[in-house]
Order: sequence, then structure tokens, then C-alpha cells
Amino acid sequence: MEEREISRAVIGRLPRYYRYLGELLDAGVERISSNDLSKKMSVTASQIRQDLNNFGGFGQQGYGYNVKYLYTEIGKILGLNREHNMIIIGAGNLGQALANYASFEKSGFHLKGLFDVNPRLEGVSIRGIPVRMMDDLKTFLKHNDIEIAALTIPKSKAIEVADILVASGIKAIWNFAHTDLNLPEDVIVESVHLSDSLMKLSYNISRYNEEHGK
Ligand code: NAI
Repeated sequence: MEEREISRAVIGRLPRYYRYLGELLDAGVERISSNDLSKKMSVTASQIRQDLNNFGGFGQQGYGYNVKYLYTEIGKILGLNREHNMIIIGAGNLGQALANYASFEKSGFHLKGLFDVNPRLEGVSIRGIPVRMMDDLKTFLKHNDIEIAALTIPKSKAIEVADILVASGIKAIWNFAHTDLNLPEDVIVESVHLSDSLMKLSYNISRYNEEHGK
């Protein structure tokens, strides 16, 4: 496929296309028109065509999109055609919830280890993966090919721990601590703020109430 610069906005929408296409694939649907996909996803058909035209040649006039092909190609763009090994730093509420969520494995994200500083958690197993102490982190990273570290520790510790991770060769951080990490350019950081999504929900509630005179 031709390499092109794809806008961040389009990339941001790809996981949703991927999810819907995966569901269609599971349901045995082989092809779908942009109109039908549009109804399913509540996105305009022209938006879908515009987004998917970025990758060229996915849709054919009068035929629609080949679901499997599109799913595979979007998967490749999202790097889901490769396996990703990850660890979780901070085995508290959120760290354990993430570790318990087995569906990430289906997309090729394999949880290899959980780390914490709380000795009471040492050896506790989550989905068969024991919590290790931070003292063991460097040795563990030396012997395991880990690409991603999820940070689910208190904000006050995030910068210090991120530096340790980077010094040990971690190249990607899935950051849940509410703090910005200033890391070298070759380290990829994706920060998650569930509260952003909740605020969006709150905004939509307010808008709905205004429109309906409540
Ligand atoms: P928690 O207190 O249950 O878990 C934090 C864990 O980190 C504890 O087990 C603690 O022992 C461990 N820890 C502390 N210092 C550490 C260090 N230096 N190295 C390794 N482990 C260390 O807290 P919870 O509820 O799991 O939240 C974790 C973090 O995630 C917090 O910073 C919280 O603000 C954040 N959070 C972020 C969300 C988001 O949407 N981004 C949503 C919920 C929580």
C-alpha cells in the first residue's frame, strides 16, 4: 500500500472502524456499502468514504467495502498485525482492572508482568501473572522483550518511574497518571484520561437538557 501522511483525526477514528469491522467479520458479513456502514456507525457516508479513501482502493463503486480486507489493512495501519508485549507498573485498583481485562490479548497485547512497591502485593497473581517488586524491574526488562509499559501509579511517582523505564529500554508508555511526561523523542507516550470522556458526557447531558428546556 502506498505510504501517505494520514491526519491525526483520521487515525483517531480508525480504532472505531476496526471495532465495527471486526464485529461484521464475526457476524459473517463479507462486504458492506459506505451507506450501510454509515447507518451502523452513525457517521455520514461521505465521512466514511473520505476517511477510507486515505488508504486508497478499499472501496469499489457498486460493490462496497470488502470487510476482511479493510479490517486487515486498518489493523496493519494500527500495528495490530504484530504482537506487543507489555507490563503494568502499579498493581492497585486500575492496574489490576487492566490486568484482568483479557480482551487486550485478542488484539495482540500480551501482559508479561506487573510491578509494584507494596510488599503486600508481592506474589499476588492476576490472571496467572504474579506481581513483582520494582527492585526486580531492571533484571526483568533485561530478560524479556517488553515494548509497552502501562503506568498506573500515583501522579507524584510517575515522572521518576517513567525515567527508570526509559533508561531500561522501554519505548512506549501508556500513561494513566495525570501528569505530563517529558521523555526523549523516541519514546512514544499515549496518555489516557477517563475523566475527559466523562466531561464530554456531562457536556452532552447539559446540551440535551438545554435543547429540551430542562
Ligand atoms: P491505587 O492506589 O489503587 O494503586 C496505585 C498502586 O501504585 C499501588 O498499588 C501502589 O503501591 C503502587 N505504587 C506507588 N508507587 C509506586 C512506584 N514508585 N512504583 C510502582 N508502584 C507504585 O490507585 P489507582 O486507583 O489504581 O490509580 C492509579 C493511578 O491511576 C493514579 O495516579 C490515578 O490518579 C490514576 N487514574 C487515572 C485514570 C485515568 O483515566 N487516567 C483513571 C483512574 C485512576
